[in-house]
Amino acid sequence: MNQERERWKTKLGVILAVAGSAVGLGNFLRFPAKATLNGGGAFMIPYFVAFLLLGIPLMWMEWTLGRYGGKFGHGTAPGIFDSVGKNKFLKYIGAIGVIGPFIILIYYIFIESWTLAYSYFSFSGVLLKNADAESMKNFLVSFQGVAEGAPIWPAYVFFIITFVVNFYFIYKGVQGGIEKLSRWAMPTLILIAIILAIRVLTLGTPDPSVPQQSISNALGFVWNPDYSKLLDAKVWIEAAGQIFFTLSVGIGVILTYASYVDSKEDIALSGLASSSINEFCEVILGGSIIIPAAFVFFGQAGAVDIAKGGVFNIGFVSMPLIFDKLPLGFIFSGLWFILLFIAGITSSISLIQPLISFIEDEFKLKRSTSTIILSIVAFIACQPVIFFIGHGFIDELDFWGGTFFLVVFASVEVFIFLFIMKFNKGWDELHQGALFKIPRIYKFIMKYITPLFLLILLGFYTYQEFISRILLEDVKNPIDKIYMWGARLMIFILLIILFILIHIAWKKRKENRL
Ligand code: PFF
Repeated sequence: MNQERERWKTKLGVILAVAGSAVGLGNFLRFPAKATLNGGGAFMIPYFVAFLLLGIPLMWMEWTLGRYGGKFGHGTAPGIFDSVGKNKFLKYIGAIGVIGPFIILIYYIFIESWTLAYSYFSFSGVLLKNADAESMKNFLVSFQGVAEGAPIWPAYVFFIITFVVNFYFIYKGVQGGIEKLSRWAMPTLILIAIILAIRVLTLGTPDPSVPQQSISNALGFVWNPDYSKLLDAKVWIEAAGQIFFTLSVGIGVILTYASYVDSKEDIALSGLASSSINEFCEVILGGSIIIPAAFVFFGQAGAVDIAKGGVFNIGFVSMPLIFDKLPLGFIFSGLWFILLFIAGITSSISLIQPLISFIEDEFKLKRSTSTIILSIVAFIACQPVIFFIGHGFIDELDFWGGTFFLVVFASVEVFIFLFIMKFNKGWDELHQGALFKIPRIYKFIMKYITPLFLLILLGFYTYQEFISRILLEDVKNPIDKIYMWGARLMIFILLIILFILIHIAWKKRKENRL
């Protein structure tokens, strides 16, 4: 047993840290767009079905496996899986739970830095000088350094600031960094989101000459159910994908956070509490800001177009244009980007911690050394993301890290929980120190429904997306294909390095034991 691992200081602290990981750009950008395009209120049916049958069970399994591994001094999947079962391959399978967060991290942190830059541009008045969608889009591509002759250095400066701030909190540790940050960041984030939601919900009918573009019609538009969409399998897949992404499950980060929970502490209620905070931020707050605002200013067709334009378009092009129409718009625009930045940073630190935990636990290095090593590796890995952004590099990393590995890793975790740890032992572990008893129906759900749901999902991904994705069928530009294969090569090399590191760590452990 390892006595030196850190612990969370308070129960509220760990709940807020996990909620901080879950509440991210996905809640305020991805969810509203998905709901609008997939049946409005009707989307809530597959969404909550996925939440109850997939999200909550996975959340509980990850908390259980994580806290269990922590007892043996492990905070990441390779060590945790190895503590659960005897098979020597389990630790290598666990590598997906370390590589996944890293892949998401290297693009998430760059996008997060744009939100910091845009809050600066909002408050300084530069951003709202762009009066229409065209000039706002040009502003974004110039900022990203993609436009002809546009310098990359402003984006680079904000990237470095964001990177340093992230690693500063990591360096300060689980209690002194992550927990402290989450304790003030989460209430602040919720407060800002409430201010923005109230501003949007009190818009009334901004243009009396088009009375149908009123806020009550906007809410009707967002929430009126279109039940015909429920017959479309794609809507169910989208809902399940959103649940994974928003709850940060199936990636490995919750395993790590849970490994710092004391074995006598509750995890059943804490898991439920952090998921509930995420749902409040997603459905109530996320659903009340961008789409209703887009509706009252641009009408129904405009709102649908904006949702179709993708996440970056909504966040960085449409929202500033909407705020521009309000009195003191620059303040609301600035608040919007600060909201995204806070939501982003509490998520990105949760993506860094598993890697730190891997180095600390498996190589017994100090936190300062682990932070330095990882920051150098991550900094190097971020460079292609920054410089090849126009070539689909982010899309490729997002597909592997943010979609594919999530479903695969979630399936592995369920398998390990059910068959290696054995369900009954897992259920007892989950209830150790629990402040409430989970309804028995969840025994049935976790044993049969969750794995079945995952299998169907895996089948659909393979059938619908995976094959055309592997072949890059939708990519027209042959040059982009080269970059995307480059991204794959990078993932492959990282995975091999990880296998070697796992091999060395376990060999050393064995030698020390002899
Ligand atoms: N849950 C975050 C969001 O909704 O933006 C994204 C995320 C963070 C996904 C951390 C996965 C993860 F491990």
